[in-house]
Amino acid sequence: MKTLLHLPPHVAWANGALSRAPLIRKTTHLGDLAGVFADTDAWQRCDPSQPVYSVEMFDSPSGDGELYTGVTHLNPGCVGDEYFMTRGHFHARREQGEVYFGLQGEGLLLLQNEQGKVRLEQVHPGSVHIIAGFTAHRLINTDSQILSALAVWPSVAGHDYASLAGGFAKRVTVQNLKLMAKEVQNG
Ligand code: PA5
Ligand code: NI
Repeated sequence: MKTLLHLPPHVAWANGALSRAPLIRKTTHLGDLAGVFADTDAWQRCDPSQPVYSVEMFDSPSGDGELYTGVTHLNPGCVGDEYFMTRGHFHARREQGEVYFGLQGEGLLLLQNEQGKVRLEQVHPGSVHIIAGFTAHRLINTDSQILSALAVWPSVAGHDYASLAGGFAKRVTVQNLKLMAKEVQNG
């Protein structure tokens, strides 16, 4: 029997562009992020139609054992003095993990466990972030260019945004980033 060669889906490591397979894309605008940024007055003064981030993913099968692969492109910017960030979530299936890979730009991955303990990891091209189950995650763009990160996660994981509606335990602002930058740790 003849064996067919398949051309798999493709990611451009330099900028996270996905190709060679059907894609799904969703853009989140400032107007969608009510209650996410600390400075609500500053948020209200912003243009609600301004895009903050988009997620592009392969239109892959769902169900037990299946994996989703997608890239988040997070624009540079601030609301007040707080950097643009994703909404952030726990997985609805709490035990399910995820892996992020930094592709372009510089930023932070904010991780928070169910006890509210936080950890910040630096995201940059080539960085690998193993997000264990029971850990909420949010990307933060601290750069002046787009931050793009590839993610792979079980399709059954789902998203739980409601549990963090009150916010994460840590906020990253222009001011406190300068202080944190002096105390970088390996690992
Ligand atoms: O699966 C993930 O964790 C990512 O693809 C996120 O969904 C993406 O970064 C957008 O963030 P959020 O879902 O918190 O809006
Ligand atoms: Ni996730």
